[in-house]
Parts: sequence; C-alpha cells; structure tokens
Amino acid sequence: MKFILSFLLLTFSFSQKSVDKNYLLGRFDPSIESGFIQLNAVYAKGNALNRFLRKETFEAFKRMSEAAKKDGVKLIIVSATRNFDYQKKIWEDKWNGKVKVGNKDLTTIADFNERARLILLYSAMPGTSRHHWGTDIDINETETEYFETDEGKKVYQWLTAHANEYGFCQPYTSKANGRTGYEEEKWHWSYMPLSKILLAEYKNQIRFEEINGFAGSETANALRIIENYVDGIACR
Ligand code: DAL
Ligand code: ZN
Repeated sequence: MKFILSFLLLTFSFSQKSVDKNYLLGRFDPSIESGFIQLNAVYAKGNALNRFLRKETFEAFKRMSEAAKKDGVKLIIVSATRNFDYQKKIWEDKWNGKVKVGNKDLTTIADFNERARLILLYSAMPGTSRHHWGTDIDINETETEYFETDEGKKVYQWLTAHANEYGFCQPYTSKANGRTGYEEEKWHWSYMPLSKILLAEYKNQIRFEEINGFAGSETANALRIIENYVDGIACR
C-alpha cells in the first residue's frame, strides 16, 4: 500500500512539470542535487564519485539487500549514479584506445559507426545512460564471468526471484528474444517506479541532436541510439 501511494505521489509530482532535460542527460552533479543521497560503505563500494542515488532507489535497495542477507545472499552496489562527465570519460577512454574493448584498440577501427557499436556492447554514450538518473545500479561485479560462478549464480537467482518485490527490474536481459541494444548485463538493475517515468520523459523530450559533447557523438543518429539503445530494455 505504502509502495502504491508513493508511486502515485511520484507520478503526480512528475506530471506537474516536465522533468529537467539536463537531469535526463546526466548534466548535473549528484553530490549537490536535491533528491540524491550519498551511499555508505555498508551498501556500496568502489569509486566514491558514483556513490550517489535518488533517495527512493537507495531506500528500496536497502530493503532488498537486508532481505537478501537473511537468505544468505550478499548484495553490494558497485556503480550508482554516473553523470555525463563520468560517462564521457568511460566512453572516450574506449574511443581513444586508452582502454581496450575485447582486447582491441579501437583507434584501429576507421569506421566511426563500427567503433561506436563496439563500445555500445557494454557502455552507453554520454547523455544516454540510465545510470544518469540515480535509478539504476550495478550489483556485486560488472563481469559476465562472476555470474557464472556458484556465488554469482546464487545472487542472480535470488535477484530474478525477488528484486521485483522491491521495485527492481533487469533491463538488459538476453537478446535471444529480439531485444535491441546492449548485451546482457546480469549486474544492472533499475528502480522502476522512477525509471519508468524518466524513460517516458526522455523519449518525449530528447532528440538525437542533443546527444553531443563527446568524441564520436556524430554516430548517434545512424545508430538510432534512442530507439535501439535507450529504449532497448526488457522492463516495461
Ligand atoms: N552499461 C550500461 C549500458 C551503461 O553504460 O549505462
Ligand atoms: Zn549498469
């Protein structure tokens, strides 16, 4: 009941005025943004810069991780809000060959669309990541191999059975059923009561021309970045 009420309240407050474009595009600083909260070390590890979330997301995660703990499953956030600048560094390090993609230096690929497609296997263009919104988290490890270990399998089994009870959904599932966009990410979970509204706002307000300000942004249109990637999700 409490969940439904807060969902209605949120829907109501979002519908009062449209969501700020800069927020949708990640062009803000979560450490000073109202509505965001800093995560403590009990629930998060890794880079301090992306240890912020929308309060509602964090509250839901805390409830979920406490429940998981009772079942002997440890859940810890390893990546939370990544703003435009943070995502730009991830993207450009791959674009410029500083970080290899599948053991490949991408500067050897002259076709820019192809270069972008390879980064997009696992990383969003700046301005298009759900991590901008403070609604999406990576849990435990961001490696497929981890989810093939006994521990990883147990964690994933628990999440697929229970995450929805806390409002979380896995947007990047297997692509076997025709989902477009990123590869499967068993670690990435989205707090739907907020992210559902933000995705709708994104599709209403953002055009590909507004996805710019980083190396390779000119590929956004050819790759149909909003239709194929931002909207290439399993959670509806
Ligand atoms: N890894 C997901 C697709 C992101 O970069 O937002
Ligand atoms: Zn993620």
